[in-house]
Amino acid sequence: MGKMKGGAGLSYTSLTAQLRMLRAKPHSVRYTHDFSRPEYQSGDSLRSLAEKRGLYIGTIAQEDDTYKQYLPGQFDSLTCGNAMKWGWLSREGRLGEYDYARADAIVDYAVAQGCRMRGHTLVWGRNPPHSYPGEVDRILQASATPKEDLRSILRAHVTEVVGHFKGRVRQWDVVNEPFSVYDKRFADYTFYQVLGKEYIFNAFRYAKEADSSLSLVLNEQFFFYRDARAKAFLALVREMKERDIPLDTVGLQHHVMFVEQDIDDFRWFIGQLDALGLKFEITELDIRQKIFQKAPDMALAQAEAYYAILCECVNAPHCTGVTLWGTDDGNSWYDHMAPFAMRCFQPNAPLLFDAAGRKKPAYYAVQYALRQHREEIR
Ligand code: XIL
Repeated sequence: MGKMKGGAGLSYTSLTAQLRMLRAKPHSVRYTHDFSRPEYQSGDSLRSLAEKRGLYIGTIAQEDDTYKQYLPGQFDSLTCGNAMKWGWLSREGRLGEYDYARADAIVDYAVAQGCRMRGHTLVWGRNPPHSYPGEVDRILQASATPKEDLRSILRAHVTEVVGHFKGRVRQWDVVNEPFSVYDKRFADYTFYQVLGKEYIFNAFRYAKEADSSLSLVLNEQFFFYRDARAKAFLALVREMKERDIPLDTVGLQHHVMFVEQDIDDFRWFIGQLDALGLKFEITELDIRQKIFQKAPDMALAQAEAYYAILCECVNAPHCTGVTLWGTDDGNSWYDHMAPFAMRCFQPNAPLLFDAAGRKKPAYYAVQYALRQHREEIR
């Protein structure tokens, strides 16, 4: 479907909410390592170390083929940045017509390299026609029976796409970002307006029916892991467990764009998931360098932040993997999205490799965390 650019409508641009975020008290970084020093560095690939820890380590395929420079060398898991989103899979934006060419090429590459493929994402209500074909809204507006119509549209889509990738995609983000970006309400998507949270439950049931061997993920972005919004999310997953909805893993996007997430809160949150018998995976990790502008060295501060989050993953037996949302600083989504594309928000430089593909201190921080044994970390 090529023509659609997609990023423009992403809702991180509420000015008041952003100002609140930018004023939030920064989590203090502990400068205990200098990841530019050789004692913190080794020649092992991230992939080989992650495999020893029982974790997947992943990256994304964007619109170019940069991912092939890094996978399978460094990574053993791949997610499509856009190519599997409903809008992108739809032939000329038409409902029920699919064009799998780009997504298939990516999946086939990953599978041929012995890597796990993650599916992203089946049901996502934010910014159509990027996330789903605009025709859905038109049909529902004209419909006398919108509930029934939406149920059958969602069932048909999930069944079709899961079926198409069956045996190749091992894990799916079944529902993406069910909550509103900055508060504890459910996002006011068409899907929610028509069906309430039933749309979430149904999507998981349809995916399970289509491929019972899948790992099924509810994926969400958090800026804070112990606020009212995080607790509302936990209430949702608790309800899903009580209702026997086939959810097994919570996907934490972990885009660090405004302030560094508080690690103690993060630990509390994953403890709650563990108590519910749920696994978790970091699905879209990136940490903007600019948020450390007051630190003596932004790149080293960023590396500490990477180290802190990776240690939590290595340390948590119910963590299944970590995916970086991009390959290198040359093609991060922030550089194409308001407000982060603006000069005053630069450098975004949120990934492990610089634009020339060189390893940053953040790379060695991830590597060092993966080299630890659980018992060594704290
Ligand atoms: C982003 C892509 O990286 C961009 O290329 C695109 O323009 C917009 O979407 N949360 C998600 C991802 O779940 O799908 C988003 O990906 C980033 C935020």
